[in-house]
This record gives sequence, C-alpha cells and structure tokens, in this order.
Amino acid sequence: MYSFKDKYGEYQSLFEARLSAFFEDLKCEPLILDESLKYSLKSGGKRIRPVLMLASADLLGVKDCGVEDFALALELIHTYSLIHDDLPEMDNDDYRRGRPSNHKVYGAGNAVLAGDGLLNSAYYLLFEKCAEGKLYADAAKFMCGCAGVKGMIAGQSADLYSAEKGIKTADMLDFIVKNKTGKLISAAVAVPAILAGGRYFLELRQFGEDLGRLFQLVDDILDEEGKFDKTGKTVGKDREENKLTYATFYGADQCRVFADILFDKCLGILEGIDGDTQFLKDVVDFVRHREG
Ligand code: IPE
Ligand code: IPE
Ligand code: MG
Ligand code: MG
Ligand code: MG
Repeated sequence: MYSFKDKYGEYQSLFEARLSAFFEDLKCEPLILDESLKYSLKSGGKRIRPVLMLASADLLGVKDCGVEDFALALELIHTYSLIHDDLPEMDNDDYRRGRPSNHKVYGAGNAVLAGDGLLNSAYYLLFEKCAEGKLYADAAKFMCGCAGVKGMIAGQSADLYSAEKGIKTADMLDFIVKNKTGKLISAAVAVPAILAGGRYFLELRQFGEDLGRLFQLVDDILDEEGKFDKTGKTVGKDREENKLTYATFYGADQCRVFADILFDKCLGILEGIDGDTQFLKDVVDFVRHREG
C-alpha cells in the first residue's frame, strides 16, 4: 500500500546510493578539501530536490535515463549554495542542519573552496551526461541556467543587495525568491520533462517555481517561529540581518494566507498532468506543513 513517508524514503535511498558512489570516486587532496566537501554533503538535509527529480522522472517514465546523475548534480549545486549562503559576508549563519556551518569548522577560505568544488563537480557530471545525446545536453543546459546568473545566483545577489541598501519592495522580494529558491526547485521537476522530450515541461517548470515560492514562504515563517531542533538553523536571523523575506515584509499571518493560495495553485497544476501525481501532491502538502 502507498505511504508517502515510505515513498519519500525510497527516493532518498536511491539518491544516497548515487551519492555514495560519488564519494567513492572523490578522494581528493588535500584531506581538508575532501573532509569539508563530505562534511556538508553527509550532514543530512531533506534531499527534497533529488526526491522531486526522481519522482517527476517516475511520473514521466524516464527514470532509466540516468536521472540520478542529474539529481546528484542538483544536490551538489544546492549544497554549495548553502555553504556560501552561511558565510559571514552573506547570511552569517553559524549553524546548518543542526551542526556548525562549514566555515565554522573549516574556516571561510576552505568553505569558499568547498562550495566551488561542489559546483565544479556538478558541472563535471553534467558534461558527462551531455555526451549521451541532445536531450541530455538540453537538460544539463537548463540546469546550469537555473543555477547561474539568471537563476539562483541572481536571487542571492538581490538578497544581499536589498539587505545592504534597505530596499524593501514586493517586486524585489518576488525577484529574490523566484530566483534564489524557485529556479533550483524548478530544475528538479523540469529536467525530467526535458528528458521526456518536453512533455509537460511548461507545467512542471511553473509547478517548480510555485512550489519554490511556497517552500521559501515556509522557510521564512520558520525563521521567525521555528524551532532549532527541527530546522537546524538559528531562529530569528533574517530580521537580525535586515533581510527582505516574506515574513519580514508581510508578517507571518499573511504568509500563511499566501501559502494556502500557492498550495492550491500547485495542486491545480498537477491536476492538469496525466499519470499518477499523488506523490507530488503529497510533497506539496509536506512543503506546506513542514517544521524543518
Ligand atoms: C534551504 O533549503 C535553502 C532554501 C532554499 C530555503 P532546504 O531547506 O532544502 O535545505 P536542506 O537541504 O533540507 O538542509
Ligand atoms: C537561501 O535562502 C537560498 C539559497 C540559495 C541558499 P535562505 O538564506 O533563506 O536559506 P537558509 O534559511 O539559510 O537555509
Ligand atoms: Mg540567504
Ligand atoms: Mg541563509
Ligand atoms: Mg531562510
């Protein structure tokens, strides 16, 4: 019988198996580089982006396209973004996933290099996939776009800029969230659509962006109201760092109203897709109600 928790665990295990194989190959020198990469990659995390990718691949019937490699590349990019995001010059966060942030253990210089190393490794994987054919190259290119200067990096840059200059507008907030969070989550569900020859690409890309927005809404609420033992992150940091977030701009109660609207929108998009979308619907529910 179907259970969301079991299915999520199955996808996580598939992903962890691919990650272990990556570790086998890694063994880089000096040892501190090897250790710092593994420190951040092995420290848990929800693995929601790889899970979303594997589930979308299942839905579209393309799970035999080596989609685990794309899922790994995406999680490497996500993990690098977190290492850099926590640096003193960015969000100045001492904790991540319940443990000291990478730079607190290895120092800022090594943390920059660990992040660079993960990004570089992701591109190496994606180049290998490109050799398998045009759809693979298209999928890799799409993921690079989502991670880059018109994607996650643009959002992170705007996030810093708005905090530094005190720019607090709804347009700026939308730009930040769409890019810093929406683009990588969108890549998670749109890459399988590209591998499937473009089937439901537009729907899934939109679904990813809306789910990303919902994800960030909840992240911002949890930054104000969450518990460290669930989020693994210091509570109250966004206000302290003068961040423009949904919660600091609209207040947590209004955020919950927006979250319910986005929840319905995400489910509505899934209604328009043929096949068994139950797991993805349950992911939307998980994202809406998560505590960590
Ligand atoms: C944190 O992402 C960064 C945001 C986009 C809010 P996650 O909440 O997915 O982080 P992990 O991987 O589970 O730690
Ligand atoms: C970060 O958003 C999104 C990234 C691209 C890393 P946040 O700064 O809100 O993420 P957390 O709260 O540190 O996980
Ligand atoms: Mg940040
Ligand atoms: Mg942060
Ligand atoms: Mg946050």
